[in-house]
Amino acid sequence: MPDLWSGRLPGGLDPEVRRFSSSLDVDWRLAAYDIRGSLAHVAMLQATGILTEREAHSITDGLATLLDEVMGGAAPWNPEAEDVHSAVEEELTRRVGPVAGKLHTGRSRNDQVALDLHLYVRDATRATAAEVGRLARALLTQADAHQEVVLPGYTHMQRAQPVPLAQHLLAYVFMLSRDRERLWQAYQSADRSPLGAGALAGSTLPLDPERSRQELGLAHLYENSLDAVSDRDFLLDYLAAAAQCMLHLSRLAEELVLWSTREFGFVHIDDGWATGSSMMPQKKNPDVAELIRGRSARTLADFVGLATVMKGLPLSYNRDLQEDKAYVFHAADTVMAALSAMSGLVAHLTFDAAAMAKGLTTELLATDEAEALVRDGLPFREAHARIGVRFRDLQDPPAADRAAIHASLHARDRKMGPGPNSVRDQIAKARRLPWDIGEIG
Ligand code: ARG
Repeated sequence: MPDLWSGRLPGGLDPEVRRFSSSLDVDWRLAAYDIRGSLAHVAMLQATGILTEREAHSITDGLATLLDEVMGGAAPWNPEAEDVHSAVEEELTRRVGPVAGKLHTGRSRNDQVALDLHLYVRDATRATAAEVGRLARALLTQADAHQEVVLPGYTHMQRAQPVPLAQHLLAYVFMLSRDRERLWQAYQSADRSPLGAGALAGSTLPLDPERSRQELGLAHLYENSLDAVSDRDFLLDYLAAAAQCMLHLSRLAEELVLWSTREFGFVHIDDGWATGSSMMPQKKNPDVAELIRGRSARTLADFVGLATVMKGLPLSYNRDLQEDKAYVFHAADTVMAALSAMSGLVAHLTFDAAAMAKGLTTELLATDEAEALVRDGLPFREAHARIGVRFRDLQDPPAADRAAIHASLHARDRKMGPGPNSVRDQIAKARRLPWDIGEIG
């Protein structure tokens, strides 16, 4: 098939330029969205009388068959095509003949590719949120089962105050609830149709963008055609949500690496979720956690990469925008795989309550002791100094009395706190959160 612009540039593209500018190896993943967008566009062209019923039917039939094939995993197009849009149109032409040439009426690949990406991000945010929900549930199950297990809580990596393991794990659950919210916001910014914006400034034909928007089930229509073809904020929103989520996973991964050391021994990683060493026979390594921690760099790089593409781009469409997809697909694949691996890792963890109990020394009760003096009327600064003196030369504080640790937790049983009622409330609250976008979207 001749190039889409062969009227203006009949000589044909230099093969090197064709290779250099092609995006099919990346954007083939948009094929189903592209065809769905075309189906909505044709329906609109028919409804507005721009296409006859017969024409619309032939195109629709051809597209529907192609969609079935794509959904079945086929790639029914010429692998030499420039991008997924021209690949689909070329294949449609081969199948239904010249009437396929009417599909692109009143449309540009600029509003077409923007639409494809909006549809893709709506699915990606839902799928990512579902994985976030899976991990949150795995953490909640562990938290629920470990309300009675107590470990030293840390600040500055120094022993600070006792907390139940459940309280520690729930912190990650609430971090994930914010990830879900950010994904929902990304979903909302993607839920907008650019179709009808054309190349940048609409069309003289009597298009009905509202109609195609409805057909696609998108919540809003862009207000401005230049914005519609050049906006990639919704991609950055998704990348930011993915990057933030990976940062959370990376922090959890770091703790699992640390806690699984002989020095801590707080957690045992299941054999199936650990690896050995090719040389040192004794080794059992937390590679899954380390890979998640390492891969968080990738999603961060994806956000920075696309933000750098966008920075300084004039309105409206520029070919630079073709680079957007690789970042988005890469981030989506990375965050979903990492969430899934972390869910499996967490679900298979065994916590060592005895190892944690070894860290429950009297120093963890120092703040409580200072507060007891405050209750007796001493100013807090004075109480702090008086207790502090006792720990000055205490290199190795003795184990705290188990009852004293529990009394300390009970004494701090207020909202947010590590007491048993508060922890139970947090678990109940976390269970009621709408983990999937589908639950509220
Ligand atoms: N492959 C292009 C992209 O991903 C499609 C739009 C091309 N538009 C153009 N005017 N050359 O951005």
